[in-house]
Amino acid sequence: MRRPLVAGNWKMNGDTESTISLVKGITDGRAEVTNAEVLICPPYILIPRAADALNGRDDISLGAQDLDINQNGAFTGQISASMLVDAGCKYVIVGHSERRAIYGESDQDVADKFKVAQQGGLTPVLCVGETLEERESGETEAVVARQIQAVIDVVGINQLDDAVIAYEPVWAIGTGKTATPEMAQEVHRFIRAMLAALNGDIAEKLRILYGGSMNAGNAESLIRMTDIDGGLIGGASLQAESFLAICMAAN
Ligand code: 13P
Repeated sequence: MRRPLVAGNWKMNGDTESTISLVKGITDGRAEVTNAEVLICPPYILIPRAADALNGRDDISLGAQDLDINQNGAFTGQISASMLVDAGCKYVIVGHSERRAIYGESDQDVADKFKVAQQGGLTPVLCVGETLEERESGETEAVVARQIQAVIDVVGINQLDDAVIAYEPVWAIGTGKTATPEMAQEVHRFIRAMLAALNGDIAEKLRILYGGSMNAGNAESLIRMTDIDGGLIGGASLQAESFLAICMAAN
């Protein structure tokens, strides 16, 4: 059985005060979430604040939202895998659609980030997903396959053993428009079948999260689907109550 994972992507939101109160809210309700793994991904500068607020608790994992492909040196403004590990991170999101669309990250860039994340001891959460235009022109599977294949070409299928994939249809992110459970399941099943053709064990073990306007009201119907193993949550991860409700739905 795959252990469900609920991950909060805070994006560029929060400050010291809100981080402390959000982490407190999540830790207060965490005991009820007996099965699902819980992960929070604050902005870089708030990761140490969140780590302090966790105060040594390891039942809530920390992750970052991005990383640089270099280890250290003259790369102004960048953050490396080793810095994230040093700050207490176990996970890092790579290839979020906002990074692809706003900051021009290519499939190759994302694959390189996936590789350095793992080399640095982090578990990558690889985001994939199609735009509305791509869905409407019937390219959903081709896009998702291309995004995943780019990573496999760089690291090999065996490296998917220590990774998470998040299917996030771009048109569902921050729009309030969620994929129906059936629509999401269809893509999740496609992803798992694609990986199964290369390595059945890895495909069976790999957690595939859904992301895109997941909230307390729709989480259960999505996560109930066979190939949906949890969620990558944006807006609804900024309030302890809604985030915990999603964690319970995944439990
Ligand atoms: P929303 O949940 O706000 O739609 O964001 C989803 C997302 O992009 C998570 O990475």
